[in-house]
Amino acid sequence: MEGVYDRMVEHLRAGTTDMAEATLSVPIAHFTDADHLKREVEVFRNQPLVAAMASELPDPGSFLTRDLLGVPLLMTRDKAGKVSVFRNMCRHRGGKVEQEEKGKKPFFVCAYHGWSYDAQGALRGVPYEEQLGPVDRSCNSLHRVHSEERHGIIWVDFSGRADRTVADYLGEADERLAAYGVEKTVVFMEKWIDLAVNWKLVMDGAIDVLHPQFLHPTGVGKLIHTSSAVCLDYGRHFQSFSARKRLLEKLKAGETIDAGWRYISGNLMVFPNTSLIPTPDHYEYWNVWPDLAHPGRCRIHIRFLVDAAKLDDAVAERIMRSWAILEQAATEEDFPMEETIQVNANAHPVGDFHYGLCEGPCQHLHRQMAREMEVAGA
Ligand code: FES
Ligand SMILES: [Fe+2]
Repeated sequence: MEGVYDRMVEHLRAGTTDMAEATLSVPIAHFTDADHLKREVEVFRNQPLVAAMASELPDPGSFLTRDLLGVPLLMTRDKAGKVSVFRNMCRHRGGKVEQEEKGKKPFFVCAYHGWSYDAQGALRGVPYEEQLGPVDRSCNSLHRVHSEERHGIIWVDFSGRADRTVADYLGEADERLAAYGVEKTVVFMEKWIDLAVNWKLVMDGAIDVLHPQFLHPTGVGKLIHTSSAVCLDYGRHFQSFSARKRLLEKLKAGETIDAGWRYISGNLMVFPNTSLIPTPDHYEYWNVWPDLAHPGRCRIHIRFLVDAAKLDDAVAERIMRSWAILEQAATEEDFPMEETIQVNANAHPVGDFHYGLCEGPCQHLHRQMAREMEVAGA
């Protein structure tokens, strides 16, 4: 990543930034149209998606339930440590076989008529089977969803494609993610937020490199130099880097700079809905989920991950301060702006939004979504 630092220094000295090859116009209807949303959801269902952090299933016997894209899921870690993901859907008549959000259990018992399943999804107990008539255990396991544990993340793939691993999917981004060491982290804190905003507008806000100086002038805009960015295009995925203003000040003053890398922060965007930002103490990790029923709504999942071995009181206090800064910027500045844009888009879904040459990171999401739709023939 030496090259990134050198490129950043060049940009800071020259007042330049990495530029996309062309500007991009995205129809405003892409943020408001129900049919467009349906095509996007098809794209989601064709990608490996972040379902959970591996640390959320810490031990053999751990389980976690979560609804993703309208699908209730049950994730388990069996005695051998292997993670499985199932539809949380009883084979009798569709009840949820686990109601609680997380915990540790050897069996999962449906609340409706008591059928029970083990961590590998096998049907074990059927109360009153002699009265129901025999139930064939061999073809009544929980429905399995294709999943993989990699880089401390549990990925699910609703397409069930067996010819593609998560490493294949990540391509060049696989190495970047490996370098972060997410598998050493635990979820320090997390928040789910429902917002009346199209999911792509929230992603745009999370990856937009230009806006902090305008929208967050007293917060992150004061710390980060936001008109110079270095961008790495990994094809399906993307990474952008910004510099702290302190780096520019040091360059201007002609100071020697040790470990210049510390003055640069990156944002790794894993298509379609993940943004991962490492900071010295923690990782800021975003997933933004479309609302299946409404293009103007989404569900945001923000997590702060921390290296379990480095967590002490001082680190925890610093992370809480970072959380407060993020929460203030998001709830008082980013989200209200995005809500306003959504209201405007709903009221006038005509024409295009413009993504300029220096807005490569945001361009990338829309370009990649368009490519995926083309491949799907959607
Ligand atoms: S629906 Fe689960 S036991 Fe009947
Ligand atoms: Fe922002």
